[in-house]
Amino acid sequence: MSSAAPATASRPAPRPGVVARLADRLPEDWRERATALPGPMAPPVRAGTATPRIAIIGSGFGGIGLACRLRQAGIESFTVYEQADHLGGTWRDNTYPGAACDVPSHLYSLSFAPKLDWSRRFPPQEEILGYLDGVAEDFDLHPHLRFGAEVTDVVFVEPDDGTPGHWSLRFADGSTDEADVVVSATGQLNRPYTPAFEGLDDYEGHAFHSARWDHDHDMTGRDVAVVGIGASAIQFVPEIVKQARSVTLFQRSVNYVAPKPDAPFSARTRSMFQRVPALAKLYRASIWARFEAKWIWFKKDSRTAHWAEGLYKKKVEASATDAVPADVLVPDYPLGCKRILISNDWYPAIFQPKVRIVSDPIERFEPKGVRADGATYEVDTVVFGTGFQSTGFLTPMRVTGRGGVDLHQTWKDGAEAHLGLTVAGFPNLFLLYGPNTNLGHNSIIFMLERQIGYVLSCVRRLTEGGAHLIEVRPETQAASNDQLRRELDDTVWAEGCHSWYKTASGRITNNWSGPTYRYWLRTARPHWKDFVGSAEG
Ligand SMILES: Cc1cc2nc3c(=O)[nH]c(=O)nc-3n(C[C@H](O)[C@H](O)[C@H](O)COP(=O)(O)OP(=O)(O)OC[C@H]3O[C@@H](n4cnc5c(N)ncnc54)[C@H](O)[C@@H]3O)c2cc1C
Ligand SMILES: NC(=O)c1ccc[n+]([C@@H]2O[C@H](COP(=O)([O-])OP(=O)(O)OC[C@H]3O[C@@H](n4cnc5c(N)ncnc54)[C@H](OP(=O)(O)O)[C@@H]3O)[C@@H](O)[C@H]2O)c1
Repeated sequence: MSSAAPATASRPAPRPGVVARLADRLPEDWRERATALPGPMAPPVRAGTATPRIAIIGSGFGGIGLACRLRQAGIESFTVYEQADHLGGTWRDNTYPGAACDVPSHLYSLSFAPKLDWSRRFPPQEEILGYLDGVAEDFDLHPHLRFGAEVTDVVFVEPDDGTPGHWSLRFADGSTDEADVVVSATGQLNRPYTPAFEGLDDYEGHAFHSARWDHDHDMTGRDVAVVGIGASAIQFVPEIVKQARSVTLFQRSVNYVAPKPDAPFSARTRSMFQRVPALAKLYRASIWARFEAKWIWFKKDSRTAHWAEGLYKKKVEASATDAVPADVLVPDYPLGCKRILISNDWYPAIFQPKVRIVSDPIERFEPKGVRADGATYEVDTVVFGTGFQSTGFLTPMRVTGRGGVDLHQTWKDGAEAHLGLTVAGFPNLFLLYGPNTNLGHNSIIFMLERQIGYVLSCVRRLTEGGAHLIEVRPETQAASNDQLRRELDDTVWAEGCHSWYKTASGRITNNWSGPTYRYWLRTARPHWKDFVGSAEG
């Protein structure tokens, strides 16, 4: 590489796998083959090898996970830039009451950094954030983390002398930096969306978004409106209902809400996982397999989904009352088209007399409240559970690739990438949790780990494989997206409903098109023939 930092052997790479530990004692050709092994099994790069400078943008599960794996691979020439003052992404920002994961944490955690003493199946936000903090400690990532560093511009610089280009980064404070490789780990759900309702600026009460919870605002005795009833709202509404005088829910669409099979782990179970970590691995695998089996529900016209939908509708219809009629309980779109939610306290909360559900569209805000269907609902607090700006991947960063091409211009009809990871015309730029890598049925961490493995293979190609640039061929990207679109057309998301998985024009830019094992197979290793120039195999 033109501008490289030497790999350092000063600190042992944390937790290498068995083959990785053996690798230096293996014959050279065996060692070379072992570098293609997935995960922490691959041996670290040899001490003293020149490694590319890597800029990772974002310190959520994606950025932190990649940083750990780079250290495991003996690569120290990276920096994680984070706009906030702490790591954690989603789990730093979403501190609303009741926040928790909805994928059991034995699976919603990094496979190479297992936590064996999770307090319960679906632990609360603080415990997940604490886990990420602990991972950063264990892997000694702090020297690599730069907080308060919002990246605003990323530009690919092509020197006139024909030498490989590099990336120039600009930050919100005007400072700059350079890198050979840029990895965007900016997530899909970190820019809160608050609709621009007419009159909102004149509203005299207190209003905030669920991802920016105002913990100083005591809800006791308040009249609260909640706008938007999605995965966040169904977690915080039952908590607000415990304190507020009245709660008015502005519900534009109805959710499918299934029971949450949650419970604390007994001391005995936790100690068993700690004594026999293989059991925790087996448990993790069993959760993955059970969730994977649910993929069948997401196929268009799935008989299993139709059957489950029928049962669900019958059950909730039967619970309808005058105050909570069937039309505010029964979804009018197929099961799975929006995220299927899980909760044990949602229905008990909404049937309380102090809760009112308004399904008429909001007309506007007024100084004292919210107007819908000709009536004004007077409230002193409004919480927006209206989700995130999910389809604007990498915004508001400006990303300029080869020939001055603007990434967002190429994405004007909807973001796309090859396997969600690489974009033609943007060499050595990699995306984690990029376009079409979200799921409706399994853990995002599983997907992130596949992407991290893929990026690591590319970095090793740049480090030890003689390549200078990794740039996907446009025809490869077009072909993989054609296949993706065909597969997505056969899913429930292609049916009528709107959701954060789609652009305003209806293009599904967020979700992966199949079961996660298929993504695993397609990303298991990069096919070098898919890349132009020096990465070609
Ligand atoms: C409330 C909530 C609950 C969720 N629960 C689940 C769940 O149970 N199971 C599941 O699978 N998924 C869940 N998700 C999805 C979740 O977002 C992913 O699972 C995962 O946490 C994404 O990690 P990430 O690192 O890709 O992105 P994020 O966690 O969003 O991290 C992105 C980071 O990039 C930083 N950043 C962004 N732009 C810049 C910039 N320009 N410069 C510098 N830094 C920048 C952000 O500040 C942030 O720290 C949930 C999402 C939300 C909002
Ligand atoms: N672990 C968990 O349990 C958990 C918790 C929170 C979030 N998450 C993840 O984060 C994603 C986002 O969740 P979220 O609840 O924050 O957002 P969301 O699912 O996108 O829900 C947003 C809600 O706001 C409503 N809304 C949006 N614009 C509106 C408008 N102009 N007027 C009225 N209502 C409006 C939506 O209605 P429509 O449905 O009609 O659009 C929807 O009810 C989830 O799908 C999930 O992947 C997971």
